[in-house]
Amino acid sequence: MESRASHKTEASLSVPRHVAIIMDGNGRWAQARGLERSAGHVRGVDTVRLITECASEAGVEYLTLYAFSTENWNRPQAEVDTLMHLIVMAIERETPDLIKNNVRLKVIGDTERMPAEARERLMRCVDETSHDTGLTLVLALSYSARWELTRAMRLMGSDVESGKLDPEGITDATVEKYLATTGMPDPDLLIRTGGDMRVSNFLLWQIAYSEIYVTQKYWPDFSKDDFMDALADFKRRQRRFGLTGEQVSSSDK
Ligand code: IPE
Ligand code: IPE
Ligand code: MG
Repeated sequence: MESRASHKTEASLSVPRHVAIIMDGNGRWAQARGLERSAGHVRGVDTVRLITECASEAGVEYLTLYAFSTENWNRPQAEVDTLMHLIVMAIERETPDLIKNNVRLKVIGDTERMPAEARERLMRCVDETSHDTGLTLVLALSYSARWELTRAMRLMGSDVESGKLDPEGITDATVEKYLATTGMPDPDLLIRTGGDMRVSNFLLWQIAYSEIYVTQKYWPDFSKDDFMDALADFKRRQRRFGLTGEQVSSSDK
């Protein structure tokens, strides 16, 4: 019965607590205009600022943005360098505004792979916003779900070996403690821009019951109205978590 009660709470929430976004289509946006792919990444940064503001105003508690995947390290070196440079520059530039808007920045991913200086600069921004209590902006950087899950398994294995963890006692909640997103609610809504119907190694554990919204719009074109459309679409969904529609509507009353 306890879990039924929590379904009721989630089903009746009209604003998603946690929105995760696969920000895709920067390259195609630029190429369609005869520009270099990097021009799309530059414009994509503006969209990040806009959507962060919008999510905060809408009352979203967590916004997780997929900025750079583990697989993106395999892109041409010049594009990787541009992206790293842009991400760190943008975060540094925006940090005073993040603080002003009470936004707490968090980074998830294998940041050890980043150049040391970039990582240090980024971590400084994370520290500077650590006391903020408004929206939590989670940047998935050098992130992939398989990296996260493999790391979790390695850590669990070592805790089992040292006697800190009893394998028989492992539950969903135990696994959650070993994830990079520990302590955060799972995404209620997963948005992907750029039209592709795939999840590209993003938050595979956490999106088990997320509502998925794919838009054809490329990320640099994604507007506040588009974000609000996604929230409105979310509001119309019936989240059943494996139950029947009747069970959900009766526990909603
Ligand atoms: C998303 O845009 C940004 C990153 C993956 C870093 P892309 O660069 O993937 O743009 P498309 O998908 O090629 O258009
Ligand atoms: C997903 O976009 C990763 C990010 C948005 C950072 P990709 O462009 O890397 O995904 P695929 O290659 O189309 O699956
Ligand atoms: Mg892409």
